[in-house]
Amino acid sequence: MQTKLVEIDLGARSYKIAIGANLLSSIGDFLPFDIEGKKMFLITDDNVEPYARALQKTLQQAGAGFCEVMVFPHGEKTKSYTRLQEVHDWMLEHNIHRNSVVFAVGGGVIGDLAGFAAATVLRGVPYVQIPTSLLAQVDSSVGGKTGINTQYGKNLVGNFYQPVSVIADMDVFKTLPARELRAGYAEVVKYGLIDDLDFFEWLEVNGPSVIDVNMQSISHVVDVSCKAKAAIVEADEREHGKRALLNLGHTFGHALEAAAGYDGTLLHGEGVAIGTVMAFDLSVKMGLCPRADALRVREHFKVMGLPVHAGNIGFSAIVDDLIATMQRDKKAVDNKMTFILIKAIGSAFVTQDVPEDMVRDILAQSLKEQD
Ligand code: GLY
Repeated sequence: MQTKLVEIDLGARSYKIAIGANLLSSIGDFLPFDIEGKKMFLITDDNVEPYARALQKTLQQAGAGFCEVMVFPHGEKTKSYTRLQEVHDWMLEHNIHRNSVVFAVGGGVIGDLAGFAAATVLRGVPYVQIPTSLLAQVDSSVGGKTGINTQYGKNLVGNFYQPVSVIADMDVFKTLPARELRAGYAEVVKYGLIDDLDFFEWLEVNGPSVIDVNMQSISHVVDVSCKAKAAIVEADEREHGKRALLNLGHTFGHALEAAAGYDGTLLHGEGVAIGTVMAFDLSVKMGLCPRADALRVREHFKVMGLPVHAGNIGFSAIVDDLIATMQRDKKAVDNKMTFILIKAIGSAFVTQDVPEDMVRDILAQSLKEQD
């Protein structure tokens, strides 16, 4: 497979995403610095530790100086103040320098945690994203969002800090659990729903081959998603406008994740799938979007094995608590919740103009429904 390069053009903070197979063997080609003698701090989780160890070996053979791996338990709970402090202490104990490099080797959790640690230690050291999940390759590793969760909700402490390189290696899909793959697929569908009907139609036909890890299909969706994300991040790096569209389904989804307790009951992408269905249902209820479009999206998620109702999660949640979490969402303005709503598949927009009673109805209905 030929390696593709997608450029994120942000002036002095520009970088490339390499998309291809067997990229570890030629890692030096995708790093914008010399490996020789450099101190390197690799952060990973227990699911993908073997991959991080293979990277460590390659870097050591290429002449890296200090090159060690810190391993955390997989799962959303790792994105915490406690783990952040552990990373900082580990880096400082080993005398990290401003020209050292941090490698985030993992999914969205490790990418966000390691990126935030890199952003804040010594007021910022360079970091490389090596995303090992579909969700991380198509979304979280690109665009520089870093952060941790707090008891008040998801990603509420963090910043925008761009990596110096992103390396999306198709080899990681050989071992990625099917549930993780499907959860990441929800973020792929998002690009079709917000502004690319053709891509959504392509996914309706070819989605199953992505989940079956057909290399041509999966590298195509990573390529299309990264290009779509690059265009949005280049236009609005710090989410003052258009970038908020990438949060389709996330206001609802983050509230569900918080209610589920970050214990693996609900993966981020699963929350996004349910939240996206709710965003469509809300758009229909408000008379903005044809019901047929909402049903079509729901059907596609179902065919792909994703949950579409909060009642599918197997937890108890109270509408008042979900609303309180949604009001604390980063996108809220003057205590008004922000939503990404839909005019049609491929046409999303951002608004605060949403009646709270309708949001409550949509939440109550989704909590009740089960398939
Ligand atoms: N995951 C949404 C964004 O990066 O803006």
